[in-house]
Amino acid sequence: MDKLLIEGGVRLSGETAISGAKNAALPILCAALLTREPVTFTNVPQLNDIGTLLKLLAQMGVKVSRGSGSDAGTVTLDASALDNPVAPYEMVKTMRASILVLGPLVARCGEAKVSLPGGCAIGARPVDQHIKGLQAMGAQVTVEHGYVHAVVPRLKGARLFTDMVTVTGTENLMMAACLADGETVIENAAREPEVVDLANCLVAMGARISGAGTDVIRIRGVEQLSGTTHRIMPDRIETGTYLCAAAASGGEIRLTRTSTAYLDSVIDKLMDAGCEVISERDAIRLKAPARLTSVSIRTSPYPAFPTDMQAQFMAINAVANGTAIIRETIFENRFMHAVELQRLGADIRIDGNMAVVQGVSQLQGATVMATDLRASASLVIAGLVAEGETVIERIYHLDRGYERLEEKLAALGARVRRLA
Ligand code: UD1
Repeated sequence: MDKLLIEGGVRLSGETAISGAKNAALPILCAALLTREPVTFTNVPQLNDIGTLLKLLAQMGVKVSRGSGSDAGTVTLDASALDNPVAPYEMVKTMRASILVLGPLVARCGEAKVSLPGGCAIGARPVDQHIKGLQAMGAQVTVEHGYVHAVVPRLKGARLFTDMVTVTGTENLMMAACLADGETVIENAAREPEVVDLANCLVAMGARISGAGTDVIRIRGVEQLSGTTHRIMPDRIETGTYLCAAAASGGEIRLTRTSTAYLDSVIDKLMDAGCEVISERDAIRLKAPARLTSVSIRTSPYPAFPTDMQAQFMAINAVANGTAIIRETIFENRFMHAVELQRLGADIRIDGNMAVVQGVSQLQGATVMATDLRASASLVIAGLVAEGETVIERIYHLDRGYERLEEKLAALGARVRRLA
């Protein structure tokens, strides 16, 4: 299993480009299931999660063509011969987002059999809201032998209300509603920018959607959708992660092919921590002070502070001046990085969904273990500022969500090497 060796103590400086958003690409690729015509996507990141999804789509009968070289980010999907609306356990166990095929498959084929997902070990993460929504739209849904089985001749538009804000739940139901008979209203909808990117793609395919980006989304079903070309939005979490790495290291960097547009809550906190952040057209510059000031955060659905940036902020607070309180309100088990950060010398106390981080002046390199995707990112940040060598084990988690991580960090001057 690959490991990452980081020699800490370098102030990051220079420029690197941000990739397309994993969390936008995953639902948007699934949207191709809704049409018989080919759909082309650009700026698709080359990540293990994307590879897993493309394999899953291929075994359903979708023709997958992927560009190479400078076109590696272009993917064309042709679901005209879709004949097997099944997502088997072996293919979906590593990725919770595979549940995103459920809505489009039921809408297009009238039936779907999708394994209950695996993915990051950050809590129970049920899919009851996805199922409840499809049932309200007329589907017969059973959960048997670890599979969700949904059947319906044609979904019917309905008024849907989710018990909590769910991102993939909103996306699944929005896709399903595109081909339903009549109007669907999703209340308490997720407002994440990735939901908006998906809605934009669906509208380009002929869907009739309004309100994406607000908490009430209206979808008027149509008979069929058509092909289109869609560019995936920049990854705001990857952007935030590199900003945090530069901030913790006291560095100065420029990130291209991204923007501050969807990062207000994160940028605000970085500025509170003492960083200077300059927004350019399609780029962001950050200049960090020699030592950051602690910043408290509380995770919440968009536009509030994202749970996917919580671990990275724990790492920067570990070396900041002062004490920070971190409250995690989305997932019940998302502090697994804390014990690993403690191995590097961080002073962190966990109390339920709250972490108290007392900044220390220096972390020390050690061997640590990545436990989930964003937890791994926090260990990379900590390793970059720790004294000496840090070895991060189980970096397959990082490969799920960060494209060419070592290459990009090296472009910023970091001393990082992958050990096979
Ligand atoms: C998405 C993101 C993930 C991010 C998360 C929260 C993708 C592919 N993944 O995950 O990176 O961390 O949003 O911003 O976009 N819940 C239920 N029942 C459901 C659905 C959700 O109880 O049917 C709960 C979850 O357990 C969790 C909360 O609702 O506590 C939010 O989860 P949700 O927004 O659905 O997360 P994902 O869409 O899986």
